[in-house]
Amino acid sequence: MSSFDSESFAAAGQSHLLQRLDQLSGEQAAYFQSELERLDLPFLQRLWQEDGQRKAETVPEPPALVELVDQAARTQAFSKGQALLAEGKVACLTVAGGQGSRLGWDGPKGTFPSGLITGDSLFAQFAGQIDRETKRYGKAVPWCIMTSPLNHESTVSFFEQHHHFGLDPSTVYFFTQGVMPSVDCETGEVLLASPDAIAFNPDGHGGTLRALATSGLLTTLRGRGIEHLSYFQVDNPLVRALDPVFLGLHIDGSVSSAEVTSKAVAKRSPEEKVGVFGVQNGELTVLEYSDLDPEVCEATDDDGKLRFRAGNMAVHAFGLDFLDRLTNGTGLPFHRAIKKVPFFDESTGKMQQPASPNAVKYETFIFDALPLASRPLVVESDRAEEFAPIKNAEGSDSVQTSQLAQSLRAANWLTQSGVQIAQDALGQPVAQIEIRSSTATCPEDLALCELPEKLGPEERFLV
Ligand code: UD1
Repeated sequence: MSSFDSESFAAAGQSHLLQRLDQLSGEQAAYFQSELERLDLPFLQRLWQEDGQRKAETVPEPPALVELVDQAARTQAFSKGQALLAEGKVACLTVAGGQGSRLGWDGPKGTFPSGLITGDSLFAQFAGQIDRETKRYGKAVPWCIMTSPLNHESTVSFFEQHHHFGLDPSTVYFFTQGVMPSVDCETGEVLLASPDAIAFNPDGHGGTLRALATSGLLTTLRGRGIEHLSYFQVDNPLVRALDPVFLGLHIDGSVSSAEVTSKAVAKRSPEEKVGVFGVQNGELTVLEYSDLDPEVCEATDDDGKLRFRAGNMAVHAFGLDFLDRLTNGTGLPFHRAIKKVPFFDESTGKMQQPASPNAVKYETFIFDALPLASRPLVVESDRAEEFAPIKNAEGSDSVQTSQLAQSLRAANWLTQSGVQIAQDALGQPVAQIEIRSSTATCPEDLALCELPEKLGPEERFLV
């Protein structure tokens, strides 16, 4: 008999777990017992019961965006952001704890080769940018990488194998997000990943907040004089990891409270799988694509443009004071996603690979912090310059589309430096070009490079 209280398991609808424990012995029983100790049964039960009972939402309105058309405002933001970077007050934060199931890559997503010519990994491409800015501003930029218990070790060993891509290892911080049990979508019963283990899934990128606090990293960053975090996802090699204009706007008291500032990209079509910024219940929020009402998704303005077109690039600047406030608060709400989760079937004693979604995964989303911020700001940015995520193995948002976008941006930067590049009938450059992020993070950086006068069709050029 176990020392667990069978009534609390019964009250939470999880008696099957104690029955399972009774069938185990020795090490297996001890391990399963430790798994059960990790469960917060009352909380799990509340989540299951609360499903579908969220507060009524008002009809959303599109948000006001900062469009940086005014050159003087841009220049002012640029100098503010540069000063912040030169004072060493910004760290990068990359969320890399997801399972990357759509990509079908056997390993952490950040290890995926995304460079067109070098085959550099996503992590290497981000590291190159951080290295470039560290040298430019003469101040180390701490890089915080959130892993999950499922990919932590393989992520850390990838960095070790690659000597931290030339970065000082004492400036690279790994921290691990939490997990939540996956439950059967019909009954709410916790699923098993094996005869003696619970099926846990990462708790969503909203888990960043708790993990930053419990790992002690928030305190460490403060000790290093950091005041703001530049947050981005692991899947977008075009991201501007440290953008002075964006950071300058973030700390500009006339438009922002420096709590949270986000970047938006114009949505390509109603079908594009990006969340959109909207104002709901009087607060700025992200309306996630999977929850979006088709009417809202397809609505257009008088000029035919999508009404909700401010797509969430998942790039944010967070003030550390704001993060402190949030980590001491009630936490972010959990969303439920119905997914296919392989599980150990107690009735047959075998693993099952479900053909259709069978489980609820509970996750929190970092952008649910936006409604909690005072004067959050959304800044419009240019897709061709900053957004080409790798999500799928093929088709849209795949490595092919991302590498094409990387090459087109590189061609644009080279053209600005006076290089003539052969074009096809549609005016698209036809050379394949990669600019290493450690070489240039903006077109002006190319001034220091030796460049050819021309690039012919089919040429491959790496700088
Ligand atoms: C996400 C955003 C969407 C945005 C789009 C931009 C969500 C729910 N939606 O969609 O609004 O428009 O990116 O590309 O995020 N991650 C963790 N831990 C987790 C889960 C995810 O670290 O537990 C990380 C992943 O490693 C990845 C990022 O979060 O870096 C995004 O996760 P993913 O589930 O792929 O989001 P999308 O559906 O693409």
